[in-house]
Amino acid sequence: MSATAFSPLVAILYLVSAILFVVGLKGLTRVRTARRGNFLSALAMLLAIVATLVHIEVLSWTWILVGLVVGGVIGAFAAFRIPMTSMPEMVALFNGCGGAASALVALSIVWQSVLERGENPAAVTVTSLLGTSPALTTVISVLIGSVTLTGSIVAFLKLKGWISGKPVLLPGRHVLNLLLLAGSVGGGVYFALSATDPTLQLQLLLGVTVASLVLGVLLVIPIGGADMPVVISLLNSYSGLAAAATGFVLQENVLIISGALVGASGLILTQIMCKAMNRSLANVLFGGFGAEDSGGGAAKDARDYVNVTSYSPEEAVLVLENCESLVVVPGYGLAVAQAQHTVRELADLMAKRGCQVTYGIHPVAGRMPGHMNVLLAEADVPYEQLLEMDTVNPEFRNTDAVLVVGANDVVNPAASKDPASPIFGMPVLDVQEASTVMVIKRSLSPGFAGIKNELFEYDNTMMLFGDAKKILQELVKEFKEIAD
Ligand code: TAP
Repeated sequence: MSATAFSPLVAILYLVSAILFVVGLKGLTRVRTARRGNFLSALAMLLAIVATLVHIEVLSWTWILVGLVVGGVIGAFAAFRIPMTSMPEMVALFNGCGGAASALVALSIVWQSVLERGENPAAVTVTSLLGTSPALTTVISVLIGSVTLTGSIVAFLKLKGWISGKPVLLPGRHVLNLLLLAGSVGGGVYFALSATDPTLQLQLLLGVTVASLVLGVLLVIPIGGADMPVVISLLNSYSGLAAAATGFVLQENVLIISGALVGASGLILTQIMCKAMNRSLANVLFGGFGAEDSGGGAAKDARDYVNVTSYSPEEAVLVLENCESLVVVPGYGLAVAQAQHTVRELADLMAKRGCQVTYGIHPVAGRMPGHMNVLLAEADVPYEQLLEMDTVNPEFRNTDAVLVVGANDVVNPAASKDPASPIFGMPVLDVQEASTVMVIKRSLSPGFAGIKNELFEYDNTMMLFGDAKKILQELVKEFKEIAD
């Protein structure tokens, strides 16, 4: 199939689809336009599929329909059943499927060319059948797609807790990875450019595939489970690159465009996440974060704390009822407790009493990009109440109360005060500047970074211990009683 053989209808459909992908992606950069962006991107995908089905001569609609039904059922099941807290696992699996699809399509092109090479197969190489560039892009697609597949499977297993989330640091792993990478790249280049023996060429491709599959496992296994969201974002980028390479093999412009968009946006997102955690990508990939107890304030439980005061919801409401301004800071615990609707109910009650309520959103609160925005949008919290870190930080000193719901690392003052802290330098929400800080969490257990949070010992901090949803429900109940 070739790009020049498109009918005008197919060319127009592909063009519209490519434009919609770009516009849809742009829409995803703003909370307000994200839903529309998602819809436009899905529409772009539908148009691309329709154009492809019109363009190629489909021999059997049965397989297309079977794929449509099976894929549709799995997609709908995942969308309805997977809880928000498991979204990273789902994305990991989808990335793996994307990588596998690209690698399989590339391999099937080689297979097809082998089947079609006619009378004297032993004399004809894949390169002479496909051309040098397609042969090269085939091997790139197989390499990146295979790494994405096994890397994503390991990420999925770590996030699910089916294998240990701790970094597995094999001795000599960097040398081993380098050898595998050099072997795959060298073998791939030889496959595409120099191999004259068709049998050896196919053996090389098999070798590249196996080496890349092993490489995917070895690259992700040394990374701690908690760094998986960054890894997933990077693997997402890889799956896009693999798809773009497959686009070159098939000479499908829309696949090249959409693959490049996924590749670039995944890389940008990875960069944003690293910046928000004040970590370099190299530190995430090779640092083994979480292999041992973090220094500089590692904390496991209440024994590491002195001077922590626990308050009841009744006492908290006495403070809240006199507040003129409240900033809610949601964190991973809000997602675990699924407390987004209850927090909105409380915010509405306070707003009714004349209190100005906003939400302070840290870019890496939770476990995936935009986690808090998605949760709060689910509870119909107005977008204009969501304030980004740079906007909300100067406001804290004029704020009566901050309600921290299941957040820990993103409100840890050690990030700006303690150079020995593993999170030193990470931008955080300066909640301690407010007159009163209320922290809802179940215990004094640490968050993702595994370190102590001195905020819990501050004089202006009130700890409300318990499940976020339950505590918020009690606050709502108390508030309603005051109102009656
Ligand atoms: P964390 O620091 O992980 O703290 C979450 C807190 O929620 C825990 O201390 C936990 O304490 C509490 N919690 C859990 N379940 C709860 C429940 N049912 N009710 C009430 N509290 C509950 O979360 P954060 O402040 O949102 O920070 C996110 C962390 O993840 C950062 O360190 C960030 O670097 C990391 N990270 C984020 C991302 C993205 S993209 N978001 C990616 C990679 C890493 P208890 O167990 O005591 O309740």
